[in-house]
Amino acid sequence: MKKQAKWIYPKWEKEDVCPVFIRDFSLEETPKRAVLTITAHGVYEACINGEKVGDAVLMPGFTSYQTRLQYQEYDVTPLLAEENRLEVTVGPGWYSSPMPGWIDKEEREKKKKEPKALYISLHLWWNDGREQVIESDESFRVKESKVRFSEIYDGETYDASFESDETWEVETPEWGTDNLIPQQGEWIKEQERVQAKSIFVTPKGETVVDFGQEVTGYVSFTLSAQKGDRVEISHGEVLDRNGNFYTENYRGAKAKICYICRDGEQTYHPKLTFFGFRYIRLDVFPGQPKAEQFEAVPVHSDMKRTGWIRTSDSLLNQLFSNIIWGQKGNFLDVPTDCPQRDERLGWTGDAEVFCKTASYNFDAERFFEKWLADMSADQRPDGSIPHVIPDMPQINSGSAAWDDAAAICPWQMYLTYGNKEILRNQFSCMKKYIDYIGNSTETPGLWTGGTHYGDWLGLDAPEGSYRGSSNEDFIASAHYAHSVQLFVKAGKVLGEDMTEYEKLYETIRQTFREHFPVYHTQTEHVLAVWFELAENLQETADALAEMIQKCGVKLQTGFVGTPYLLHVLSRYGHSDLAYRLLLRREYPSWLYPVEKGATTIWEHWDGIMQDGGFWSADMNSFNHYAYGAVADWIYEEAAGIHTVEEAPGFEKIRIEPHPDTSLDWLEASIDTRRGRVSSKWEHRDGGIRYEITVPSDAVIVIDKKERTVKKGSYLFFGKQ
Ligand code: BGC
Repeated sequence: MKKQAKWIYPKWEKEDVCPVFIRDFSLEETPKRAVLTITAHGVYEACINGEKVGDAVLMPGFTSYQTRLQYQEYDVTPLLAEENRLEVTVGPGWYSSPMPGWIDKEEREKKKKEPKALYISLHLWWNDGREQVIESDESFRVKESKVRFSEIYDGETYDASFESDETWEVETPEWGTDNLIPQQGEWIKEQERVQAKSIFVTPKGETVVDFGQEVTGYVSFTLSAQKGDRVEISHGEVLDRNGNFYTENYRGAKAKICYICRDGEQTYHPKLTFFGFRYIRLDVFPGQPKAEQFEAVPVHSDMKRTGWIRTSDSLLNQLFSNIIWGQKGNFLDVPTDCPQRDERLGWTGDAEVFCKTASYNFDAERFFEKWLADMSADQRPDGSIPHVIPDMPQINSGSAAWDDAAAICPWQMYLTYGNKEILRNQFSCMKKYIDYIGNSTETPGLWTGGTHYGDWLGLDAPEGSYRGSSNEDFIASAHYAHSVQLFVKAGKVLGEDMTEYEKLYETIRQTFREHFPVYHTQTEHVLAVWFELAENLQETADALAEMIQKCGVKLQTGFVGTPYLLHVLSRYGHSDLAYRLLLRREYPSWLYPVEKGATTIWEHWDGIMQDGGFWSADMNSFNHYAYGAVADWIYEEAAGIHTVEEAPGFEKIRIEPHPDTSLDWLEASIDTRRGRVSSKWEHRDGGIRYEITVPSDAVIVIDKKERTVKKGSYLFFGKQ
């Protein structure tokens, strides 16, 4: 892209209304090729001669805008005619929606005043070698669009009856273009449609539509109406214990649609925003609404689906469906914590615990490449990693397990996809992060002091606290060791001399052992084993198993311990216990929310408590993917599909299933870059039948016996 266009924004004082930038032009001859390049301060929808350009939405997406603002290119040749009108509507999007959750009133007012700006060029080529470029400059005019208000958190107001020919000139500020980069992430697209399942009236008298599935995206509705009729819709995730519509957990996000009708039959969905919801309440709706008038349109980064898990247990299958929907709903350009309330931010801790599962379920390499590049761009000068990426200055940096996304995510992408590039790109960010710990710790060789989230939402939290009772210095130091270990591995892959950091790792391990000889909580045991810090890994894993048994086979772990809990148990001979935890139906467990009707993963094991009440109104998301990380245990341990560190990207594979009598059968498959790997086991005729397909060289381990095999499909019969 030649960066010669000018940034433009409307010469007007209107705050809410979204501008539509207009440029008319004539062409004597149809060009051979025409490419439209666009970006915006906000999100845009572009049309040529009334036809939408491309099939992406909410572009240019969410990045660290000050240094990295993506632009998109579209081949628009087929849309052109002799007389042409280019129209681009721009809404605030992530760029300037005033987030209610973390910023104060003054800051919000400032955000609202940010101009919605456009940067665009249309490059035309003819067969005879002629070229022409139409670029954003003073020749563009602006009109008020039908989008009267739009905003990420509060929703959208659209007046289909609004018509005006009044136009305004544009301002052309000297903003520079050094931050413009080509589209790096996945495109954001509308996905499959979800038809409304039912429409009903609640005890309070509210008319509510149920889509039967929590989604992230928007509602599309069709109706016949008269000009000026209104539709007003609120979004919600759950009903309260009395069956009434519930929105308190959206906190400061209004999440509403207001639509003003024109005459006749019409279909509408919001253009420049999104919501997280399963239910909608029809606050105002003309006539007698019917379920068939409504469908939900899920919107997310257009990643290819690669992973599947099916089992003989329908609740477990529903759990996996919830994990998939949790990923779809939260992989909307950045890995958000949740898609509905007044945050929707790229929380690093959540992404860190889920990135392995994410990379098996979908091809998430490009998605993470872009987000990690934003992480590098936003790394604070002291080397700490902001808790949310893209950064928000109001939110801090420097928490163990959150910042460790800097090492864990790139390493996992390397293991799953086998591409060194991501390690090369993130190497300096990892190094600065590790050095930051060394510079800021109160105890050399450990990470002590600082402010951390601890074992966030651990069930062993003291009354009134969100932080589990695991020692925060312990968690931080264990993660320090782990990140240094991954950094050393990454450096070796890249051919770097890692001697200094290998020594550092040994020092941390030694110091850790001296300082933390005893483990008190489930999470402390889990980390000591999984990060290979305990003197005796087997004894520590056994002690963990005993601890879990003693408390009635209940997990007590939070964000930090949960993702590794089952792995530790099965790797050290306690697979049966891992299955009991996985298949437990009573609270606390993965299946408790499923029995309560969940269609995504909840932030709290008991977001809806046993008595039907809510855990809290304050922090209670019903689409928070982190605990869905259990899927990687099912892929890796239950089905046994492992990457091999020395030959990543499934160049070599290790298959070592752990069947259990609690299920009749289980099957998992992943479409790797080398083809499909699948592993199924089934109890049959007093033994176990294994059906395994590998797309490359593999070692298959059944009943402790190793077989080296080539690409192909294999059947084995093993012991019960
Ligand atoms: C988010 C979490 C996040 C946390 C930090 C919350 O508000 O929703 O998922 O990781 O803050 O502890």
